[in-house]
Amino acid sequence: MVGAGRRLRRASVVMPPPHQRLDDPDDEPVSPGDAATFDSILRLRLSRRETLKALGAGAAMLGLFSDQAVAARGANEGAVSSLIFSEVPRGRDDRLHVPAGYRAQVVLRWGQPMFPGAPAFDPHRQSAQSQQLQIGYNNDFVGYLPLPRGTADSDHGLLAVNHEYTLGSLMFPETTHRLLRPVPQVATEMMAHGMSIVELRRTASGWRLITDSAFNRRITPLTRMRLSGPAAGHPRMKTRYSPDGAVTWGTYANCSGDVTPWGTVVTAEENIQFYYSGLGDGLPEEENYRRFGMHGGLLTMPWGRHFQRWNLALNPNEPLHAGWIVEVDPFDPTSTPVKRTALGRCKHEGCCVHVNADGRVVCYLGDDQEYEYVYRFVTRDRFHPDRRAENLQLLDDGILSVAEFDATGTVTWHPLVFGRGPLTQRNRFHSQADVVIDLRKAADLVGATRMDRPESVVVNPVTGSVFVVLTANRRRMNAEVDAANPRPHNTFGHILELVPPDGDHSALKFKWEVFLLAGNPGQPEQGAGYHPQVSSNGWLMCPDNCDFDAEGRMWIATDGANLHGLADGVWATDVAGPGRALTRHFLRAPIGAEVCGPCFTPDNTTFFCAIQHPGEGSTYAHPTTRWPDFRADQPPRPAVVAVTREDGGVIGS
Ligand code: FEO
Ligand code: CA
Ligand code: CA
Ligand code: CA
Repeated sequence: MVGAGRRLRRASVVMPPPHQRLDDPDDEPVSPGDAATFDSILRLRLSRRETLKALGAGAAMLGLFSDQAVAARGANEGAVSSLIFSEVPRGRDDRLHVPAGYRAQVVLRWGQPMFPGAPAFDPHRQSAQSQQLQIGYNNDFVGYLPLPRGTADSDHGLLAVNHEYTLGSLMFPETTHRLLRPVPQVATEMMAHGMSIVELRRTASGWRLITDSAFNRRITPLTRMRLSGPAAGHPRMKTRYSPDGAVTWGTYANCSGDVTPWGTVVTAEENIQFYYSGLGDGLPEEENYRRFGMHGGLLTMPWGRHFQRWNLALNPNEPLHAGWIVEVDPFDPTSTPVKRTALGRCKHEGCCVHVNADGRVVCYLGDDQEYEYVYRFVTRDRFHPDRRAENLQLLDDGILSVAEFDATGTVTWHPLVFGRGPLTQRNRFHSQADVVIDLRKAADLVGATRMDRPESVVVNPVTGSVFVVLTANRRRMNAEVDAANPRPHNTFGHILELVPPDGDHSALKFKWEVFLLAGNPGQPEQGAGYHPQVSSNGWLMCPDNCDFDAEGRMWIATDGANLHGLADGVWATDVAGPGRALTRHFLRAPIGAEVCGPCFTPDNTTFFCAIQHPGEGSTYAHPTTRWPDFRADQPPRPAVVAVTREDGGVIGS
């Protein structure tokens, strides 16, 4: 075993070579000036009207594209929606806004002590040691697990939250460029990554973190883990910190995730390319790193300058240990998290876990980058509610496949199995380990559809359909438009609905349909498409994560409005009936923040969500917001909020 001291030993390499700027999929500015024409979208859609009818979308959806519908927008707002709340006004300021009659309570915030004796947050006295005992930075995924396990308790449970990345410019009073940041700050930022698991209880005054809970756990980039599945132990996985290719260390760049039916949490490693110093040129994995988008660059975190593990010159295969789905048992704080390599390696946005009618488990996965793919994993074995030990092995064996969308409204799942089709030695695949490690290359070869940045891919538990949330792809050219990605220079994103035949999520083919095209329907050149009665506050841009309430209504969090001078937030909509695709504005985030990880307690009386990177784009000295503390001596702090109704009732009803 390699000790923590060795893993943190400073590297001898001093400066990485100069790099070109990396494309940060979440932070790069977007020009709104070149959206598709309304006519071009209409032409693409006309051929699909029959499919729309067959799926029961009806005249309301077809009306999306009529001038009368645009004229009617805003009138009779909300009357046909089942969602009952007063919409939050569009805009942007330094506050968080929820509808009248609701309250938002900050439950967890960056730096909050989560163990007995943990130091209170003090921005002037930060260290890796204190950060390991406090809530990490930039929450993305939020999962609620009732206590005791297996119950539906909505007043007492565990909250598992991801910490995706850090913003040193907003964390430290003494701020420098990241490449010049002193080692203690770099180590503090490192420890602010990963995941926090905490016990919460709802009291008369709101949700409270129980600091002396035996469940509380910080998972960091140094936590001991293991690899399982096809890549575990493969020679490509052997590094100087993992001589057997099966032990691995920690997790970082954790974006979204899910709670499994057997009470574990799966967390998705996404933008791992920002964590390694050096270039892949000339390394054994050069081809893989190039396909993964690892170009080095100014946005690279300086971990590898100070810690050998992330320095490609010294430990060239380390990136193969990240980009996986990681399973954590939050009910056992001593358990070893497991990277489930059977689910493939890419820039995983999340992992939606669903039990198929036949008991097999189906995971839906999005690879969040322009032109990347939507994946599905179907387990070999079946879920048994009373056999938890067996369920904990489910994600190691099954069939991974990738989606091809055609213009007739059919999606085909292409298996990614070694030896089948092009996945042979002729294309340098020698085993299933190569398939899961070189997942993007495998998907390229089977003809998958290149999508507009797949974020969440989620199953509606009431209707059984699958929603694919595509956040944007402004690079798509006119000639690259296809039925499932119908707008060139897609600045605003869209959402597809996939319908498995007879509810069978393991089927080779599903039907699919556009659910909505985001953007401002008041500007027809954007080609937006919603229910015709969507209000001036009700349209959204750049959908990202979403969840469903007990009625199957969709709650969509966004990430991208700040690039257009507006605030991100949460919008809710019916997915069926007269209010289908009538999005309504439920929550508005403070300036700079995206909203992530929406989730409900089982009784739907609490809506949790993460407010990630409030104040992003500003500095510690001059933040655009000091949410949530609003103290002159405190920076903005990423946080998880609990939204409840003042009368304690069901959210949105
Ligand atoms: Fe971490 Fe794709 O958002
Ligand atoms: Ca983001
Ligand atoms: Ca996301
Ligand atoms: Ca995003």
